[in-house]
Amino acid sequence: MGKTKLAFISDIHYYSPKLGTEGRAYELRSGSDQKCLAESGAVVDAAFDLLKRSDVDAVVISGDITNNGERCSHEEMREKIDGFLKEKPLYLITSTHDWCTNGNPRRFVGNEVFHDVPALDAAALDAFYADIGESKVVSAYENGHGFHSRCYQVSETLRLLAVNDDADGPGGSSGYSEAHLAWMEAQIAAAKAAGCDVIATEHHLLLPNVSPLINNGQSIGGREAVAARLADAGLRLIFVGHSHFQRTSEFVSPAGNKITQVNVGSLCGYPAPIDYVTVENGVAAIDVEFLRGFTYNGKDYGAPFFKEHSAAVLYNLLNAAASDKEDLRERLAAEGIRFGAYDKVYFLIRRLARTALKIKVGKAGRIVNFLTFGRGVDRKAVKALKNEPLLPHIIDIFLCLFDGSYIARDMPEAVKTVALDVSTLPRRVISKLPMKKAKKEKIYRTTDQIEALMEELVHPSAPDNLHVTVSL
Ligand SMILES: [Fe+2]
Ligand SMILES: [Fe+2]
Repeated sequence: MGKTKLAFISDIHYYSPKLGTEGRAYELRSGSDQKCLAESGAVVDAAFDLLKRSDVDAVVISGDITNNGERCSHEEMREKIDGFLKEKPLYLITSTHDWCTNGNPRRFVGNEVFHDVPALDAAALDAFYADIGESKVVSAYENGHGFHSRCYQVSETLRLLAVNDDADGPGGSSGYSEAHLAWMEAQIAAAKAAGCDVIATEHHLLLPNVSPLINNGQSIGGREAVAARLADAGLRLIFVGHSHFQRTSEFVSPAGNKITQVNVGSLCGYPAPIDYVTVENGVAAIDVEFLRGFTYNGKDYGAPFFKEHSAAVLYNLLNAAASDKEDLRERLAAEGIRFGAYDKVYFLIRRLARTALKIKVGKAGRIVNFLTFGRGVDRKAVKALKNEPLLPHIIDIFLCLFDGSYIARDMPEAVKTVALDVSTLPRRVISKLPMKKAKKEKIYRTTDQIEALMEELVHPSAPDNLHVTVSL
């Protein structure tokens, strides 16, 4: 069979500069988000430039093309896509942020936020991108909400099942009606009958990957049953977006069929991944690269910008909490959190924030060990890190969510030991509390998940989240 190379990108969340890129209101919006909004156009341009010059046969966008479905964002993004299409084929699916199910497209002027931005609705959105890849469509399915799923012949030997999962699942959740799922199964069978390999993309997760605690709600409805149906129909590889996490996971159906899910992170947020997949002789080899930089307003930015932008979300909040009550109030309001309830305990919040910003690992470890009679965290590991500030380590562990634990690869073992010990504290605290056994057992299910989450972050279950091989 021939060789086909595709590049998957996702969650571009392109934000039109017309919506405002400066002033206090924009700064609060941008400072509360992992995504780089003002810079999104420059990031897309850098990625498209790179991909135009690369050896990929086509590019696939796995949904959330725009920030919040604003018409101006779609129009400007469409211009960028049309420019790219002059060089190489591109396929895409849209998702909820493209038609604004959260009803929240906004623009920012000075201190003010305006909610009067025209957005595309479902029907307008589907028509807006329908012509892209039209000549390669093998079959299409309309899901009843105005959205189409399509199967594309991307090369002589490879088909792409690009499905829109918006609002078609149980009770209007993300997912698929029975007819939609049956159409997908038929496409998988038809591809195989035609002697082609088939890979798929949908926006929401087929399966939670980092932890059900975090991304249960980011998955499609009836996910395990759907995953089993697709695996049993012969689908072996699916690319998803939505969580903004770059992470690979596997699922085996009760009948013993395996499907691999590659969750593609957000292009406009840390770590800005591009997922390449080369399909040849029935084998798909996936290699993830992180965008190395972009040029915004004439200035060059490197990859560390994405990391700093994500870390700033936490630093901004802590700095505000440590020194400026009004700033904190406004930042929380930008996240939809009302400060009122915390007003009376602000003195405590300020104290904690000041401590969090400067505390060293050694001191934090001693406090935890004092409170737990010396059994909190490994003393040797704490000693090895005693003069290091704690916060950058917490941020690194947090960022492992987004980068497939790429940071964890170079993380000192002592940091991992302390992090794993800390994750066991909730269970140990609960075990000491006077509480009925049945209630404890119920809480343990959550504390077990906290421990499993930390384990997944510092020792990811996928051997290498950035390089994966799948037999199709
Ligand atoms: Fe997204
Ligand atoms: Fe999404």
